Amino acid sequence: MKKSTPATRAGVLFQEGQGDLPMLEIRTAWSTAVVYLHGAHVTHFQKAGEPPLLFLSKMSRFTAGEPIRGGVPVILPWFGAREGQPSHGFARLLAWHLEEVTFLRSGEVNVRLRLPTLEDYRGFTPFAAEYNVTIGRRLRLALSVTNATPDRELVLEDCLHTYFAVSDIARTSVAGLRGVRYLDTVGERAERVETARAIRFTGETDRIYLHTPHTIEIHDRGWKRRIVIEKEGAATTVVWNPWIEKAQRMPDFGNEEYRQMVCVESGNAGPDRLTLAGGQTAALAVTLSSAPLAAGRPAGRARAAR
Ligand code: BG6
Repeated sequence: MKKSTPATRAGVLFQEGQGDLPMLEIRTAWSTAVVYLHGAHVTHFQKAGEPPLLFLSKMSRFTAGEPIRGGVPVILPWFGAREGQPSHGFARLLAWHLEEVTFLRSGEVNVRLRLPTLEDYRGFTPFAAEYNVTIGRRLRLALSVTNATPDRELVLEDCLHTYFAVSDIARTSVAGLRGVRYLDTVGERAERVETARAIRFTGETDRIYLHTPHTIEIHDRGWKRRIVIEKEGAATTVVWNPWIEKAQRMPDFGNEEYRQMVCVESGNAGPDRLTLAGGQTAALAVTLSSAPLAAGRPAGRARAAR
C-alpha cells in the first residue's frame, strides 16, 4: 500500500468488517466511507451533518461468494439473470485486491482495487478490471475494464448498482429521464418512453433506460436533499425499487426496507452492452454529490451539486 502527500484530516483504517471480511474505513474532512474488498463494495458514504447517502440492508449477508445487499454492488461482466450463472455477474462475489490508498492534496482519499484476472471463468473471455473509489465532499466511482485477450472480442455489461438511502420512498422522485426510451421489466416486458418529469414510486419499479448519458437527480422531500448522479461512459440508467412483494421474497432484505431506498444504477446494459476488441478498455464512472433541496424547486433539471 503506497501513501503519498498525507492530508491532515484524512484517515484510513484497514480492519475486519462484518462477517470478518476485510474492509477499509475512510475518513475525510467532509465525509466517512466504508469499502469492502469483497466485491470492491462501497457499503457506506456519509457527509458530515447529513443522513447516509447509501442504503445498506440490515439483513445483508456478509459472506464470501454471496453479494452484499445495498451500497454499490459492482455488476460485471453481465447484468441481470443468466441461466446457470450468478445474477449480475461474478465480480461482486469475489475478493478484489487492494492496490493502493492515496491521500490526495485536495484532502480526498483514493482507493484503487483490482479484480484478480481469471484465466477462464465459466468460458468468459478473460478481462482485467480496475476500480477507483475517491472519497471527499463527493463520492466518485470509476471502473475500467480491459479485454485481456488479443484475438477475442469481449462482449460485456457493467453497472454501478447504487442503492441510495431516502427518507421515505413516497416522498422521493427521480428526475432527468423524461423523453428517454426504457424497457419496463415488471410483468410483461415492454418498451416505453418516459413521460414523467419526476418519476414517483407507487409500486414495483424496474426499468432499464437506454442511450441516456444525462445527469440524474433524486429529490428527497423528507430529508430535503437533492442527490446528483453525474455519469461518464454509462449509456444506461436503471431505476429499481422492489416494493412490497418482491421485498418479502428477498431473503437478504427487510420486508419494510423498500421504503428507505431507491436504486439508480449507471452502466451499459441490455442493448447498451459493450463490445471490446483485444486490448481495448471501457471506462465507466459516476460522481455522486448532494445538496439541500430548495423548496419549490422544479424537478427534471439536472444541476451539479457541491
Ligand atoms: C436490479 C434489477 O438491477 O437489481 C432487478 O433491475 C433486480 O430486476 C435487482 O431484482 C436486484 O438484483 P439482485 O441479483 O441483487 O437480487
